[in-house]
Amino acid sequence: MIIKDARFICSNTKFDKLPKDNMPEYAFIGRSNVGKSSLINALVQRKGLAKTSSTPGKTIAINHFVVNDAWYLVDLPGYGYAQRSKKSREEWRVMLANYISRRRNLICTFVLVDSRIEPQNSDIGFMEWLGENQVPFCIVFTKADKLSKAELDRNVEAYKKRLLEDWEELPPIFITSSENKQGREELLDYIEQQNKELENYLKTTGL
Ligand code: GTP
Ligand code: MG
Repeated sequence: MIIKDARFICSNTKFDKLPKDNMPEYAFIGRSNVGKSSLINALVQRKGLAKTSSTPGKTIAINHFVVNDAWYLVDLPGYGYAQRSKKSREEWRVMLANYISRRRNLICTFVLVDSRIEPQNSDIGFMEWLGENQVPFCIVFTKADKLSKAELDRNVEAYKKRLLEDWEELPPIFITSSENKQGREELLDYIEQQNKELENYLKTTGL
C-alpha cells in the first residue's frame, strides 16, 4: 500500500467523543514503551506524527490518525505502567474495555510485544480477554533490530509455544522494527487486505 497522506485527527479519553466510525480502524496496543507510537510513525513514514518517548506512559489518551483519507490508525495508551496510580490504571482499563468492545469499525487490534522479552502475563492475559470478547487481533513483535536472527527466531518460537498452551491456533504474527522498517510492508499489506475484504462485504451485502 502506498501512503499518500497521514494526519492526526484527535486525542481523547471519552468514547462519545471519538471520530465518526465511518472508516475501518486499526488499533495499536501493548505495554508502555513497547514501541506503539514509533511503529505507527514508521508505517506512515512520518517521524513526529505519533509522539514517542523513552519515558513510559507518554501516550495517555486514544489518539486517532487518518491514513489516505480511507482508514484510521489508533495509538492507545500502554498498559502495565506501574508508576501510574491505581485510580489512573482503573480509568484506563474502563476506557479501553469500552473502546474495544464498543467501537464498531475496529477491524483488528495489533497487540505489540517486545521481541526481546519472554511472554508477560499482562500481554497473555490481555489476549485472553480479547479472545473472550471475540475481538480479532494480531501479534506484532517490536524492536527486532535489537536481536540477532537466531535470538529472534528463538524468542518468537518460544512465544508461539506459550500461546499454543491456551489457543488452538495462532493469530497472524508480524515481526517488526521501526528502526530498520522490517515488517512494514507486511503490516500494510495486511491492513490493505482487510480493507478490501470489508469493502467487498459491504458491496455484496448492500450495506
Ligand atoms: P507509551 O506511549 O509510553 O505506551 O510507549 P510506546 O509503546 O508508544 O513506545 P514508543 O514508540 O514511544 O517507543 C519507546 C522507546 O522505544 C523509544 O525510545 C523508541 O525510540 C524505542 N523504540 C521503539 N521502537 C523501536 C524499534 O523498533 N527499535 C529500536 N531500537 N528502538 C525502538
Ligand atoms: Mg506511545
